[in-house]
Amino acid sequence: MTETKELKFSEAAMADIQRYISHYPEGRQKSAILPILHIAQAEFGGWVSPEAMDLVAGILNIQPIEVYEVATFYTMFNLKPVGKHVLEVCRTGPCCLRGADQMIDMLKQKLNIEEGETTADGMFTLKPVECLASCGTGPMLQVREKFYENIDSEERLDQFLETMRNTEVETPFHQTELTKNLH
Ligand code: FES
Repeated sequence: MTETKELKFSEAAMADIQRYISHYPEGRQKSAILPILHIAQAEFGGWVSPEAMDLVAGILNIQPIEVYEVATFYTMFNLKPVGKHVLEVCRTGPCCLRGADQMIDMLKQKLNIEEGETTADGMFTLKPVECLASCGTGPMLQVREKFYENIDSEERLDQFLETMRNTEVETPFHQTELTKNLH
């Protein structure tokens, strides 16, 4: 028999969650679902498992399917385990005109992975996404809350990868820039 560890939010995360819920009228707590899913993703290893989504559903007092349909719609939520750095690479038209396809090919080659995969050392996950609203500075990619722009040569791509290899991930999530802005 496989024993599964019960998921539980930290006290700090629960305080953030309650604050988000308090922004909405009684009975409308579901409106806080996006920031709570972000917190869940950060608290539970960078992805939202079915167990994590069930936990969110319980807190919001809604059906699990209502959480699944949101988490599976937005590409910012990872539905399977990911590496330390998730490289969200824009592959929409304007970035492609500036070389996004070539950047994605180089990433696949240098990291020895395909789209959606994670490197053997657990350092990088390659995740092509649609427009990230930085079309004038493509080809570009996003890692957590930061944009890395004008990655238009192999040299710049190598520099970027080196930077990421030496970058620690800031945790817990409620201390990061994105949630500060969401408060
Ligand atoms: S097309 Fe890449 S950011 Fe808009």
